[in-house]
Amino acid sequence: MERSLRRKSVRLIAAVSRGGGIGKNGKLPWNLPSEFQYFLKKVTSVSRPGKMNLMVWGKLCWYSNSTSLFLLPNILHVVLSKTMSTAPDHAHFVREDFDSAVRMAAEPPLADLIETIWVVGGTQVYRDALQHPWCDLLYLTDVMADFDCDVFFPEFDQELFKLQDKFPGVPSEIQEECGIKYKFQVFKRETADGV
Ligand SMILES: NC(=O)c1ccc[n+]([C@@H]2O[C@H](COP(=O)([O-])OP(=O)(O)OC[C@H]3O[C@@H](n4cnc5c(N)ncnc54)[C@H](OP(=O)(O)O)[C@@H]3O)[C@@H](O)[C@H]2O)c1
Repeated sequence: MERSLRRKSVRLIAAVSRGGGIGKNGKLPWNLPSEFQYFLKKVTSVSRPGKMNLMVWGKLCWYSNSTSLFLLPNILHVVLSKTMSTAPDHAHFVREDFDSAVRMAAEPPLADLIETIWVVGGTQVYRDALQHPWCDLLYLTDVMADFDCDVFFPEFDQELFKLQDKFPGVPSEIQEECGIKYKFQVFKRETADGV
């Protein structure tokens, strides 16, 4: 990326079960309302009024979510697709690859507006985001149970992204909901490229 681009924090957020599963038949394999509230709080948080975050979606994720998610405050949505030429209803943009979405957020007219780029899956979008030099934080909820899944979070280098013992704004104790235990985790990039 050239110098004229305004660097943004690229963050991944996902809930991941034992064995790395994240989805089944186009949906989340679990129903964890408080975990979902945590997700909403993270992606909608901005440092001051008037700022916005960019949420990056794969096409299937976009269509598998209810419209209430698309109307969240402080968020612009970009859907990634190589086959769609116009943004789907309620989305603001469509881009054909991850780099184009990041570039859009880092260039005028959005560069002054966008604070954080939140990557919300699926697998290929996460994979591309993990390769991006601006990717600094992974918010991964460890769902401490086995679920039958057909979509998985990609492998990543845990020497490069280090699990944090504690992280601001992230409860460190184990949670339990609907009989399922889970814990919020943050992995932080530890290299010179990290923010
Ligand atoms: N547990 C969690 O936190 C979590 C988070 C996210 C998703 N999920 C689950 O994951 C599943 C959906 O994920 P998925 O991996 O199957 O599908 P997906 O990434 O949402 O959608 C795949 C499609 O999106 C487009 N696409 C994806 N990555 C792209 C890229 N880097 N560049 C350009 N286009 C890209 C392509 O569309 P075209 O074919 O049009 O090019 C591709 O066919 C669902 O079950 C969902 O519930 C779970």
